[in-house]
Amino acid sequence: MWDWYRDKNIFLTGGSGFVGTALVYRLVTEVPVGHIYILCRGGESKLRKKWSEWIPDNVVNFMSQPSLVTVVDGDILKADLGLTSNMQHVLASVVDITIHAASSINLHSPLSKVADTVIEASLRTATMTCRWSRMSCFVYVSTAYSNSHLYALSDGQADVEVEETVYPLDNGQDATEHELEEVRQRGSSTTYENHEFPWPYAYAKHLTERLLQRVIGAADRRLLVIRPSIIGPAQSFPYPGFCLPLSSPVISVTAGVCLATSQNVRIGTQFSEPLRQTSTDLVPVDVVVDRLLVHIAAGSEGAVHAVAGRVGKMPFLRWWNMVIIGMSFNFQDARTEAAWDALDQQDREQLQLFSRTIDPDYVFEIGHRQLWYCIDKFTSKRRLHRHSAHMLYGSWSRCALQEFSVDMNSVCVDDNDHHDTDYSQRITKI
Ligand SMILES: NC(=O)c1ccc[n+]([C@@H]2O[C@H](COP(=O)([O-])OP(=O)(O)OC[C@H]3O[C@@H](n4cnc5c(N)ncnc54)[C@H](OP(=O)(O)O)[C@@H]3O)[C@@H](O)[C@H]2O)c1
Repeated sequence: MWDWYRDKNIFLTGGSGFVGTALVYRLVTEVPVGHIYILCRGGESKLRKKWSEWIPDNVVNFMSQPSLVTVVDGDILKADLGLTSNMQHVLASVVDITIHAASSINLHSPLSKVADTVIEASLRTATMTCRWSRMSCFVYVSTAYSNSHLYALSDGQADVEVEETVYPLDNGQDATEHELEEVRQRGSSTTYENHEFPWPYAYAKHLTERLLQRVIGAADRRLLVIRPSIIGPAQSFPYPGFCLPLSSPVISVTAGVCLATSQNVRIGTQFSEPLRQTSTDLVPVDVVVDRLLVHIAAGSEGAVHAVAGRVGKMPFLRWWNMVIIGMSFNFQDARTEAAWDALDQQDREQLQLFSRTIDPDYVFEIGHRQLWYCIDKFTSKRRLHRHSAHMLYGSWSRCALQEFSVDMNSVCVDDNDHHDTDYSQRITKI
């Protein structure tokens, strides 16, 4: 399977992020790619600084070897991504695959704000890279929650089925361009207002998926939409437990909960038995990366879920007696099962295509250092109350028909847990 990548050149946005870091690690250690061009605002020094927080220096050096990796200073919010015309010229003649993983992951920003970093930035990246002569495959990293509006339509039914498809809104009427214009003009759209998306971010991702179908389709290139659920610590690479804490919702929300002064969390839900019916889909970051790479090589088009699925689904009561979202989905992932069937034994042994059963104690055992990192950041920036208030109360109000409260007495972090275990020692590849 890796041989498919031989000598192919990749253009990547979001290389300093949670997914991007694990992806670059996988590419440089395992995949015979030609060259990787990483767009990073602030250029190489910024990228190395971000990687060095959670990756040991010798591995960072390996990940930035000039024969394999070129870091391009740029910004997805700028015209032409802030690239010089010389650099555009180079990229236009060599890039085969674009992977667009840069995005805001802020759930509580208003639509007018996420529209820039999610919708406009993705359109800009797609329009530019589709002009490049060799670029044949555009990969958009979206979210499984781009279809979270289906929960509000489910009338309290547990485990809402979400297919690996792009669901039309507005009864299938083709209003996508009009929606974009509305968002540009007034920071919202009638379609958005007619659907119960729990976060503006989820709608922005949904609209982006639909817009990209048009842009990439019109340019006659392949569009692959990878939809991760909630991304959590790695199960295997770069090392078990690898995680960027502020990008891992389970870690950052738990930090917010630990710091909250209230002993109760109130959560909006439609479920009649929320304690039993709610669950969380937590997918290890390396499973997201390997699904992305396998589906590029397999020629997959359209939407693919990068989720834990039934194996890794975490029921409410196992989540420290606390839940972070009063919803529950069955994200279908038959396309990855089909891709698995087509792989040979050697590929199967190497790949992390499925989550192992996730034990929450394991996640938190390996995540203590990251948890404290978030706690320190929140308290030093004094963003704590805004963060936890939004995460725990505000965001779900749009889809809440009722509320339930959870006793948080069992949620605590012992100061003794503030140990500095260096899990990066687990990297054995380099
Ligand atoms: N984390 C999750 O649980 C989760 C779940 C589902 C889907 N996703 C999706 O997965 C993708 C990757 O997320 P992630 O977890 O890796 O997020 P992340 O750790 O927050 O990384 C975001 C990346 O986007 C880059 N970026 C943001 N604004 C930029 C700009 N103006 N110009 C250039 N780069 C910019 C950041 O670069 P800087 O270093 O310069 O900030 C960073 O590399 C996103 O599309 C996200 O929506 C994430």
